[in-house]
Amino acid sequence: MVPADPDAVNRRQYHPRIVLSDLRESWFIDRLRIPTRVVLAPMAGVSVQAFRRQGRRFGAGLVCSEMVSCAGIEHRNEKTLGYLRVAADEHPLAIQIFGSDPAVMADAARMVAAAGADLVDINFGCPVRKVTRTGAGATLLDDAGRAARIVEAVSNAVDVPVSVKMRRGLLDGSRTCLDVGPKLVEAGAATLTLHPRSAQQMYTGTADHALTSELVSLVDVPVIASGDVDTRARAQAVLATTGAAAVMVGRGAQGNPWALREIVDGDGREPTREEVVAELVLFIRETVRELGERRASGFLKKFYGWYLGRGRFPKPFKQELVVLSSTEEVERLLIAAAPGALPLLEQLEDELPAASEIVLGSLPISIYGGG
Ligand SMILES: Cc1cc2nc3c(=O)[nH]c(=O)nc-3n(C[C@H](O)[C@H](O)[C@H](O)COP(=O)(O)O)c2cc1C
Repeated sequence: MVPADPDAVNRRQYHPRIVLSDLRESWFIDRLRIPTRVVLAPMAGVSVQAFRRQGRRFGAGLVCSEMVSCAGIEHRNEKTLGYLRVAADEHPLAIQIFGSDPAVMADAARMVAAAGADLVDINFGCPVRKVTRTGAGATLLDDAGRAARIVEAVSNAVDVPVSVKMRRGLLDGSRTCLDVGPKLVEAGAATLTLHPRSAQQMYTGTADHALTSELVSLVDVPVIASGDVDTRARAQAVLATTGAAAVMVGRGAQGNPWALREIVDGDGREPTREEVVAELVLFIRETVRELGERRASGFLKKFYGWYLGRGRFPKPFKQELVVLSSTEEVERLLIAAAPGALPLLEQLEDELPAASEIVLGSLPISIYGGG
């Protein structure tokens, strides 16, 4: 049920002195209701549809696609358009776009909204050179005027809310996000996500959430805190000390959806081997359906280590899996190692919406089978 006054619900967590502990509480981005205070991070090479659907099942209130190139959308690149496939059970879903030209970004946003995104997220945080040398990603933090023009063009182009994800700035110690953030809100951003590391830092050091707290005090839209949140205790500490509306979880959820359950519900039970294998096999099947066998078999290798590590299976077992050439062989070996996973897997598959319920959207593409 949607409460009558979303603003009243949100106002409560703008105030940094209020301590939040109910991560199951809903909140709003504009009129969009987000059912929990945990957001699954956009991660290039990770955030496929299977990852996002799994994230929603384990309690993430909002999930995000990986960053999608607006130039790729402009040129109707088939691989890029494949990122715009939205499943019925992912909502609410943000699709993230990156680029540097306001008009091209606006066109890309229209496509993204037409594909079924509930939120268009703009990437002003990517530190990778391949992206920054095109004037996109984190470099836009050093050009507040252009960044604001992009947000304005995108907001004017779509009816869904627009959000921005950014880093603290380009160089270590930078506080640029505090200058740029309010300008982006003025230009139309309905929420800001801050990962308070510099682009220079990449993933070293720690996320400085004192900066998140400062940003919260400067803007009147909800702020999402990203960086180093991988337990419920950490999530609660970040929410309480920053006044952010929600926390974003990235690396902590790689091969570990149970971390989301622990953060959202406080259910810290370690999964059994059977549960791990059932989730991994489901993930494999879904990813093969999405990307095709050839792309999926390479893409999935990093997930084997993520799922089977953390003391769940002996190391040599993972090494056996990564050298296999087909996902069918991987599945066989996994089931042989934990035969009790089969009934769990059947149950999981029964509970998923049938294929006919998956909405592909009216995209101008042929069947995207990866391959
Ligand atoms: C492999 C990987 C890929 C990422 N890709 C993206 C991306 O496409 N867009 C984005 O805004 N952030 C991206 N990020 C940053 C994350 O969304 C997140 O802000 C960062 O990892 C910090 O959160 P964590 O400590 O919970 O991982 C990526 C991070 C990782 C580790």
